[in-house]
Amino acid sequence: SSDVHDPLRRAHELAARFYHHLFMNTEQGRNAFQYMENRGLTEQALLHFQIGYAPNERSSLTTLLEKREFDVQSLESGGLLQFPEDGRKAYDRFHNRVMFPLHDLQGRVIGFNGRTLHKESKPKYLNSPETELFKKNEILYGFHLAKQTVRKKDQLVLFEGCMDVISAWMAGVDHGMAALGTSLTTRQAKLIRKLTENVVLCYDGDHAGREAAFKNAQSLQSVGCNVLICPIPDGSDPDEYIQTQGHEAFRTLVYERSQSVTSFKIQSLRREKNLQREGEQRLYIEQVLEILLDIESAIDREYYLKELSFEFNLSMEALHTELNDLSRKQH
Ligand code: UTP
Ligand code: MN
Ligand code: MN
Ligand code: MN
Ligand code: MN
Repeated sequence: SSDVHDPLRRAHELAARFYHHLFMNTEQGRNAFQYMENRGLTEQALLHFQIGYAPNERSSLTTLLEKREFDVQSLESGGLLQFPEDGRKAYDRFHNRVMFPLHDLQGRVIGFNGRTLHKESKPKYLNSPETELFKKNEILYGFHLAKQTVRKKDQLVLFEGCMDVISAWMAGVDHGMAALGTSLTTRQAKLIRKLTENVVLCYDGDHAGREAAFKNAQSLQSVGCNVLICPIPDGSDPDEYIQTQGHEAFRTLVYERSQSVTSFKIQSLRREKNLQREGEQRLYIEQVLEILLDIESAIDREYYLKELSFEFNLSMEALHTELNDLSRKQH
């Protein structure tokens, strides 16, 4: 085709094949390969996700591109190479990293996530910069691989990172994608909604993960999705959970323990409190009511009020009065 991005597309395809080859077949890629094996990845997964390795040399990709007669200068804003201010020769952007190729919706490579092999070196993940081809917030990691399965299962599991998607895939949860980090744009939410209306948010069990889950649940609900949250335990993430607890336990967590956003919020609140203490009980009830204020459906609200009423032996009348007071205070 006469696509103006053709050289950049071809450069990305070549880079992906080059990195994957080094990773799978060479002495140079051995450490990286072992690193991923130690993290539990099977050869099948490494092939499916085209995992690669960017070597620890100044310009191995640059040299390859030159050999294949690319006009290297024309790739200046393409994100694969770096061009020093002083006009010296271009060199590679990625060094000594495990490479996760990122694809557009049609499955063409447009960028990379590169993970360091060493705890000390920052950033942990180096990403391609935004380019004419690569717009991070318009894609989802794993989209082209999982979209059919998402349609078939009529459900999508959304993760934070590539490793979560890959480990889940090995565990049989093969309808996963990731927004590569915690933020989710409206555009990505709409993309998901086109495939299915049922989304399970499977974010990290930390503060950032929970906050992101609440925020993204709202974006997804506002485009018409039903959202459940998978309760990954504190201090863990989906990949770690799978490594330590196993495939079966993870599937149970996703399919049987995922909860509505409201239940999940209430349960998180509950874990922070000692409900044996009267003062904390009072605060807990008030904070649950605050959560219920955000619920639009009167039926849903009634359901959670009944649970409170039952648990603390309070009349529905008292709870409704309290809820109305709170609502007046807020407005
Ligand atoms: P996490 O910090 O949760 O990383 O960030 P992770 O996916 O668990 O990675 P491992 O298990 O340590 O290898 C979630 C996602 O946020 C993006 C990456 O896409 C990552 O997968 N991220 C994170 C970055 O882009 N840069 C970073 O420095 C860190
Ligand atoms: Mn299994
Ligand atoms: Mn995280
Ligand atoms: Mn994580
Ligand atoms: Mn992780």
